[in-house]
Amino acid sequence: MQIPLVDVKAQYAPLTGELEARFREILAGGQFIRGPHYHAFQEEAAAFLGVSKTIGVANGTDALVIVLDALEIGPGDEVICPAFTFYATAESIARRGATPVFAEIDPVTLNLDPEDVAAKITDRTRAIMPVHLFGRPAAMDELSVLGPPLIEDAAQAFGAPGVAKQGVVSTYSFFPTKNLFCLGDGGLVATSDEELADRVKMLAFHGSRDKVDFDLVGYNSRLDELQAGMLRIFLQQLNGWNRGRREAALRYAELGLGDLVELPQDEPGHIYHLFVCRSPERDRIRAALSEAKIGSATYYTTPLHLQPALRFLGYEAGSLPETERVAEVNFSVPLWPGMPVEAQERVVDVVRSAVSVGAPAA
Ligand SMILES: Cc1ncc(COP(=O)(O)O)c(C=O)c1O
Repeated sequence: MQIPLVDVKAQYAPLTGELEARFREILAGGQFIRGPHYHAFQEEAAAFLGVSKTIGVANGTDALVIVLDALEIGPGDEVICPAFTFYATAESIARRGATPVFAEIDPVTLNLDPEDVAAKITDRTRAIMPVHLFGRPAAMDELSVLGPPLIEDAAQAFGAPGVAKQGVVSTYSFFPTKNLFCLGDGGLVATSDEELADRVKMLAFHGSRDKVDFDLVGYNSRLDELQAGMLRIFLQQLNGWNRGRREAALRYAELGLGDLVELPQDEPGHIYHLFVCRSPERDRIRAALSEAKIGSATYYTTPLHLQPALRFLGYEAGSLPETERVAEVNFSVPLWPGMPVEAQERVVDVVRSAVSVGAPAA
């Protein structure tokens, strides 16, 4: 039995008829940019997230860059973010000419440690950028009292409880492995700040309202009509999919995976975009999984503060010990909504065999 790390095809298979009909409808309509589905999706996404406005953009990275631009964050400004996250988080800050300031993660939640964030605030800090990593909401209550505005990088946590509530703005990616995905690239900005929404909307459209007068130096970054059409169908499934992710995650615990490796700590808001475990034996476990044709992955093995492109920031190995420790031992095992129980049992069996092979004789 081959078991992929995520099975997006299994997720959308029951929707194929609906997706094909939507594609045919858009093809017949001939409006591929800023059509009716683009506008409708933005409204439906806003209602889903509980904000007044969302703006569809080309991808999650653009969403971050455009938000930073809209907030006029640039050279001389600092933005505090984790180093244990996808590169785009810090890249967006550096792309604006601002300085990413890396704070430590909490070794339990793997999200920003509010105490370390507080210690890193200076008079140049313009924002804090928490990431709701792997679908687990960051410590928003603690971060929101620190002062600087919160820009939520919610690329991995669309619709997770507690997300998009306390930040001035939140951003999303619809990359095909995300918990809300499209059939290519896509992204979204969500906010209840009308002025900010207006600026983001203009910036994403060459800094113009009407493509006649150009008030800002902007971007060409839009969510395609075809992707918006697909996303409207997927959004209707999202609560069920997020529930399905939690069910599969809790089942791994029931099946005893926690006796073999350290599981992600559960909390009700966690929607398990990925199921990321930890073990000092991760390489042996991953080799066994690979041998058994079971997908697995590691994350941010070179954390952002040690990435070549960001060397100019001057961080050295050892400067973020928790981050570096987690980078060395984390790995994910397959998880998707509706993942068959037998597939989960097989994953646990293979992990067990790898761990017991390595165990010292009694
Ligand atoms: C935490 C995080 N931020 C930003 C992004 C960037 O999104 P995109 O790939 O759509 O540009 C991703 C996903 O790839 C991500 O996981």
